Amino acid sequence: MLYQGKNYRTVWLDEGKLFIIDQNELPYNFKIIELENINHVFAAIQKMKIRGAPAIGAVAALGYALAIYRSIDSQLSENIIQYYELLLASRPTAVDLKNGLDAVKWSIENESDPNVIKTAALQAANIFVENSVLECKSIGKYGNQLIADGCRILTHCNAGALATVDHGTALAPMREAHYCGKKIFVYVDETRPRCQGMRLTAWELAQEGIDHAIIADNAAGYYMQQGKIDLVITGADRIAANGDIANKIGTYSKAVLAKENGVPFYIAAPFSTFDRELSSGQDIPIEERSPDEVLKFNNLALSSGLSTAYNPAFDITPAKYITGYITPAGIFTIKDFYKLWEMNIKAQSSRQS
Ligand code: MRU
Repeated sequence: MLYQGKNYRTVWLDEGKLFIIDQNELPYNFKIIELENINHVFAAIQKMKIRGAPAIGAVAALGYALAIYRSIDSQLSENIIQYYELLLASRPTAVDLKNGLDAVKWSIENESDPNVIKTAALQAANIFVENSVLECKSIGKYGNQLIADGCRILTHCNAGALATVDHGTALAPMREAHYCGKKIFVYVDETRPRCQGMRLTAWELAQEGIDHAIIADNAAGYYMQQGKIDLVITGADRIAANGDIANKIGTYSKAVLAKENGVPFYIAAPFSTFDRELSSGQDIPIEERSPDEVLKFNNLALSSGLSTAYNPAFDITPAKYITGYITPAGIFTIKDFYKLWEMNIKAQSSRQS
């Protein structure tokens, strides 16, 4: 990801220390913070200093592995279980979190030597992270095929480099199209209540020099009706076996509007976001966050103080609204989803070995 002409990742290890870009500070400050221990990793995920499904998976894998690596040998077995459970409870919807933790856990399952365990855990976390970067790059290449010169694209929330380790999912095809010299325009939903679109996606696009405008969430239908949106691409936090997806609250209404207006609606996601164990989207746990996120912005009250608020962080978009899934292995429709599951199974089992 470019910031002032320099490349950064969202999360990385440097000389045995774990660093992230603090996303709660953006777009005002570009602040890098160290996550010094497992409790810092838990808090960073829960407070959304790092957020976005693949990024959560990556920080969980690295944080878990590092905590295992730093454990005193006599407490290793206990810590392996406790740290896994702690991080797994940090946020419920994105399955990448579990997949990141499992990649580390699986790598040490049959080991008993503490030194082997520590080295294997770190190695597995690094492989998970590097794999995530490669998968996002691939999503960019395949998704670029959907983008014609002059294309006007709507996106929701932030599924950019900040939501991954690098490149992004929904933003990866837009980056790729831009690098290929295509002229594109991106409509960025502001994405209330936490405004990931306005604060993060618009910031990323601006850093890359990609033409865009922020629109109020309620404006998307208007622009579709006017024929000003050619394509919608969003990310996902979990994709069930029947192709239903969970993504940031408001995604479902954009998908319904897209269908009504004949605009293709695509989901871009790496394999870590697929959950073949859930038969339908109805089974995906939806995070309910604090009412304060709706009632206040940067601690400034937006309502009288006499009302409460509801704040579901995600919604479910049924597969019937999704034109296709942009994956690291190509673009799939619901009809050939079974092929995707076969590849996903392979990807997961190769992570285990
Ligand atoms: O609550 P967030 O900001 O973690 O939600 C993020 C999203 O919904 C993203 O669109 C999704 O994780 C895809 S990220 C590549």
